[in-house]
Amino acid sequence: MKLLLLCLGLTVVCAHHEENHDVVTSNFDMSKLSGEWYTILLASDMKEKIEEQGSMRMFMEYTQALDNSSLLLKYHKKINGECAELTFICDETEEEGVYSVFYDGYNRLQIAEADYDDYYIMYFLNYNNEKISQLVVLNGRKPYVSLELKKRFEKLCEDHGILKENVRDLTNADPCSQD
Ligand SMILES: *[C@@H]1O[C@H](CO)[C@@H](O)[C@H](O)[C@H]1NC(C)=O
Repeated sequence: MKLLLLCLGLTVVCAHHEENHDVVTSNFDMSKLSGEWYTILLASDMKEKIEEQGSMRMFMEYTQALDNSSLLLKYHKKINGECAELTFICDETEEEGVYSVFYDGYNRLQIAEADYDDYYIMYFLNYNNEKISQLVVLNGRKPYVSLELKKRFEKLCEDHGILKENVRDLTNADPCSQD
């Protein structure tokens, strides 16, 4: 009996460990997303948007959940050889957890997954001149993430039909970074 209990106990501990600590995939607490972030991985089925001159190739500075349930996203990116600051206010739509923001057309934004102390993944649908493209972004609390997480991200992109060759790793690629 004692042995059985010990086994059960171990199973619980192990199962808990495998659960990638505190990954949340719905009902996000947006206030916990507030703070500094680094853009680490970008993926799109319209590759030109995330290449060097691409509209969506930008680097996050911070996310701020506003009191009125809008989301403020602060970025910088290189535009015509100069580092420029970009601030977006994403308003929540009638659909809970779905945000809208105008940039390079219209964007519908959702959070796909988050571990508030480590990373969060954004999923954008961009509508521009009748063309619809997807953009998936991984932001990290630190300027780098584990290989394991990168694989997890690739898998998620694959589930959305975005191939591995359409994933860009921006670790150490920030042209406006001071360090
Ligand atoms: C929320 O507040 C921000 C900043 O004051 C503002 O820009 C934005 O339009 C507001 N959103 C809504 C839905 O009123």
